[in-house]
Amino acid sequence: MIDQPKQELLTIVKTAVNKGEFIKMTLSKPGSGDQECKNIFLKPFLVKDTIKLSFTYRFPTKDQVSNFELEAAIEELDCIIGASFLNVNLFTTTNNWEIRYNRKRKSKIWKKPPTNSKTPDLDHDNKKQRLIVPENNVYLHQLGVTTAAGKVVQKKFDKFRQINKYIETIDHLLQEVDLKKGFKVADMGSGKGYLTFALYDYLKNNKLVDARITGIELRGELVDKCNQIAQDADFENLIFRTGRIEDYPTVPLDMLIALHACDTATDEAIAKGIKSNAKLIVCSPCCHKQIRQEMKGSVELNPMLKHGILLERQAEMVTDAIRALLLEANGYKTKVFEFVSTEHTGKNVMITALKSKNQRDKAEVLSEISSLKSIFGINTHYLETLI
Ligand SMILES: C[S@@+](CC[C@H](N)C(=O)[O-])C[C@H]1O[C@@H](n2cnc3c(N)ncnc32)[C@H](O)[C@@H]1O
Repeated sequence: MIDQPKQELLTIVKTAVNKGEFIKMTLSKPGSGDQECKNIFLKPFLVKDTIKLSFTYRFPTKDQVSNFELEAAIEELDCIIGASFLNVNLFTTTNNWEIRYNRKRKSKIWKKPPTNSKTPDLDHDNKKQRLIVPENNVYLHQLGVTTAAGKVVQKKFDKFRQINKYIETIDHLLQEVDLKKGFKVADMGSGKGYLTFALYDYLKNNKLVDARITGIELRGELVDKCNQIAQDADFENLIFRTGRIEDYPTVPLDMLIALHACDTATDEAIAKGIKSNAKLIVCSPCCHKQIRQEMKGSVELNPMLKHGILLERQAEMVTDAIRALLLEANGYKTKVFEFVSTEHTGKNVMITALKSKNQRDKAEVLSEISSLKSIFGINTHYLETLI
């Protein structure tokens, strides 16, 4: 039987979002007593001129957020209203709406005058959360991320978002280290420098830290361009040098970063970080060729690996798992996680390592590495040869 009130509400949600009249929505009264998610809160936000809906799923000890395009949001709501949640309150600028289900799961809809008729300021909501702002930022403009007037260029919105997400991630890690005596950072494979500039800007101008950052990059033309931008932005302790990661001298460092450095360049960078006794190592790996080639030999042992895509994914996981373990074996506490959603970039795994006094037992970690290698038929992980 068609749930008429629910279908009516879904049409109202669609229209309200499209007209920019959707303020918020709450789903409450769980459909079953043992349901872990107690309620869901929805609000709209703007991405590249498109309104999406953010769902905050509230659990007893945590909130979990997922963002949906409008069509997908409607599908999600269609599944959960009347099943997982029995009360719904929708607030739009023209009316408030409420649906309630009784014990027999029969629904009824009410229309009420609006509590708030002000159009939601979606952009304002986004701006509040940004650590790097687009306005008056010489480097963001010269890198093509913003216009001269300080507006994010539409094509570069993903990059801008990634820069902010990355700074947020680093900001959490920085709480664990002492920044008072200055902070020396090396960025290995700095490329066009988007994240290098943002990190310097954040450390220097938001955290007021005496930061010194060196970007190391193979391609001389990128190094020249970045040095020019650093000069124009008055970033006097940010310098870029042409060279190979492997040739960078082992000097004491507070932090080493390597974002999307190709294949084993990530390993070269991690090894430099360990040898330089860096307190923090942050890398986001790129391609994973070395282990994938080694894993080819184990197809008979592991039928999964005969499928190209699964081999690729397994290789990524094994490569990064062993990287994290080798960092642990060298006195670091590690985390491996997705730092931006896959809809923005596929290369979104981040490994963070913080030098720790509570080190794991080295023999135990090495034995875990050895078991992993034997399961996947791997002789050597490139990083092992470097440290
Ligand atoms: C995919 S780009 C990433 C750039 C930057 N880290 C970012 O995330 O925007 C990787 C960069 O690493 C550089 N690179 C790769 N291997 C390198 C090596 N062994 N030494 C120095 N730079 C390297 C490449 O030239 C390229 O510019």
